[in-house]
Amino acid sequence: MAEASPRALVPVLEGEGLVLRPWDAELVAQLAAWGEYGFPYHAFDLGYLRDPARAAEELRERTAPGCHRHYIAVEDGRAVGRCSVNLEDEAGLYLWAVHVPPEHQGRGVARRMLAVLVRALEAEFPGRDFVLTSNTYAVNAHRVYFALGFHIAETRWYTDREVAERLWRVTEQERAPIAAHIRFRDGRWQVRAYVFRRAPGTPMDLRSAHQRAAGGDSGQRPQAPRSQ
Ligand SMILES: CC(C)(COP(=O)(O)OP(=O)(O)OC[C@H]1O[C@@H](n2cnc3c(N)ncnc32)[C@H](O)[C@@H]1OP(=O)(O)O)[C@@H](O)C(=O)NCCC(=O)NCCS
Repeated sequence: MAEASPRALVPVLEGEGLVLRPWDAELVAQLAAWGEYGFPYHAFDLGYLRDPARAAEELRERTAPGCHRHYIAVEDGRAVGRCSVNLEDEAGLYLWAVHVPPEHQGRGVARRMLAVLVRALEAEFPGRDFVLTSNTYAVNAHRVYFALGFHIAETRWYTDREVAERLWRVTEQERAPIAAHIRFRDGRWQVRAYVFRRAPGTPMDLRSAHQRAAGGDSGQRPQAPRSQ
């Protein structure tokens, strides 16, 4: 059930064992201590928040009024994930910055966090599609999106600035795991990405693969991808 936060126009959301709160200084301090993924997920890493000036700047940006809502998922007082949504993208309600640090990975935090957000936004903005873009190598994230009822609507090549910059510097060994997902065209590194879309009301199935295998059919299965 959504309730107004006294700090901002971003409503606090609760469910699935999580509280989704707008950014504040205490939570930013927790984010600064999160573990990091490194290449090719380095753009999500938040170690720079250990610099007080950068932490203050980031907090200002993430709490500024506007079309973006930035959330931190809190479980038993601990920051365990984050996500953002652009309410005014013409493609739909646009989810981005979906991130759970390595120490909280694999416990369904991303699934639960996005389920809470999607349900709340679906009630607040009925009839709108959800959309997001994800590099094709981010397979753990894709499992989350399928579970939430997203399908792959489109595949495209684009220049992901952060990945492209790093591709000039990493070793061939570091590049190998994503070799099938990148190409060098017209003097630039490009990354393949899926555009995921979710129609309003699409069922969710928040169980992990393990739980699904053990529990049989729930009648709430996520849609299979429509195209690759
Ligand atoms: C992708 C990400 C958000 C997933 O968060 P999460 O809370 O671990 O998500 P879940 O617990 O729901 O796990 C999702 C899938 O990841 C896989 N996974 C997660 N942690 C794992 C681990 N430690 N070992 C093996 N598989 C793991 C599982 O396959 C799981 O799917 P399943 O339950 O159907 O088998 C998180 O790993 C992350 O922040 N990664 C880096 C940034 C990123 O890729 N963001 C998304 C960009 S679009």
